[in-house]
Amino acid sequence: MGEEIKDRIFDIYKEKFPVCKERHNELVKYIPGGATRSLSYFKPFPIHIDYGEGSYVFTPEGHKLFDITNAYGALIHGHGDPDIVAAVQAGIEKGSQYSTPTMAQLKLSKLLCERVPGLEKLRFLNSGTEATLYALRTARAYTKKDKILKMVGGFHGTHDCVAASTKKNVITAGIPKGMTEDVIEVPYNDIEALEQAVKENASELAVVIMEPFLGAGGVILPKKGYLKSIREITEKYNVLLFFDEIFSFRVHTGGCQALYNVIPDLTTVGKVIGGGLPIGVFGGKEEIMNIYCHEHTDTPLYHSGTFNGYETVMQAGYAALKKFDADAVDKINKIGQYFHDNLERIFKENGLNIQSNHIGSYLNIHFVNEKVTTPELAMKSEEELLSLMHLSLLNKGIFTIPRALYILSCKMTEKEIDNLVNKIDETLKELLPLIEKKYTHLLL
Ligand SMILES: Cc1ncc(COP(=O)(O)O)c(C=O)c1O
Repeated sequence: MGEEIKDRIFDIYKEKFPVCKERHNELVKYIPGGATRSLSYFKPFPIHIDYGEGSYVFTPEGHKLFDITNAYGALIHGHGDPDIVAAVQAGIEKGSQYSTPTMAQLKLSKLLCERVPGLEKLRFLNSGTEATLYALRTARAYTKKDKILKMVGGFHGTHDCVAASTKKNVITAGIPKGMTEDVIEVPYNDIEALEQAVKENASELAVVIMEPFLGAGGVILPKKGYLKSIREITEKYNVLLFFDEIFSFRVHTGGCQALYNVIPDLTTVGKVIGGGLPIGVFGGKEEIMNIYCHEHTDTPLYHSGTFNGYETVMQAGYAALKKFDADAVDKINKIGQYFHDNLERIFKENGLNIQSNHIGSYLNIHFVNEKVTTPELAMKSEEELLSLMHLSLLNKGIFTIPRALYILSCKMTEKEIDNLVNKIDETLKELLPLIEKKYTHLLL
């Protein structure tokens, strides 16, 4: 039965996306795996997209797919938002990049500092990975201590220091062993483990780096009071607190730190704040960030980059953020709640004990039969069901991230969510015979 369902889903996929397969066969000659980010690859071959429009993307076959990936969360207003396009077009006609500070940098940095409580001063760079790299360097330079503490299952990009300790990323070949020497890891949502580790290492520990809620780890939310306790403990032991809000920022105009009212010493943001163009930001308390300030010290810490503060990105980011105001956040978060409520309903109607982890405009389905409160539980989600659901949804015109992480945009309507829920419902019904045979622990 399992093989039959699997074969059918794979056959429909291959039949529906023949041009994607042709392009994949060509691309694989030049790009290993035919995908330039590991996440974009899946079997039997990845989807190719020619263009996007609002909530939809279009494949080379001309199929219109509802895009619930939103470029891994970089798009908050969907594809080709007219205000962002207009800002980019108007800007780029005059020039795309200058080797000086600009008005566009002033506008975006001011807006971010006004909104995000932990950002008193900031610096721009080009990706989230770069942002966490620099924030950690800042913490070490400022405290003159080397150790960092992170959460198991936390994701902070792909540079050596954080990738070495990302247990989920089991393939760590190429990362020097020494990288983990100064890294301590504790389980997320375990305040006792954190307090003990901070206490034992306080004299060498520069910073606690964490996502306020785990994003890539499975949309795992903090237990009540957890973030506030971490703030108290880090203050008590004189260790910096760093919130990596590259993923979590979009749940509130001021990021998750504003939502939970816990203000860290250092903050990184990225993704949506570039309006869909590449960006990263690191920043924090003025006193800390002043180590980069030429007017504050004769030996400022060095931070440079050819594309830092890229003019077009600044213009796109400002246009995107200006309209991502409190009303927009409220609206998209309500749609997220609506999606979550309807998913819970169809899980029950199908007799399934599976989970929907949700905050704001993010939602992650887990094929796990208990509440998913840790990344370890999220990793128990049944791989086969995840990958079959992903392909089957593509066959039905829905483009998702393979591990069932769904990311909304402000363009999405309740009607579109109804359609999405119906397609997920149809897919669960399609998989039900397999679940009844092989995954009975997921039945109510
Ligand atoms: C919390 C977090 N930090 C850092 C990163 C890395 O950002 P980028 O992909 O822009 O390098 C990500 C990306 O998903 C992320 O979710």
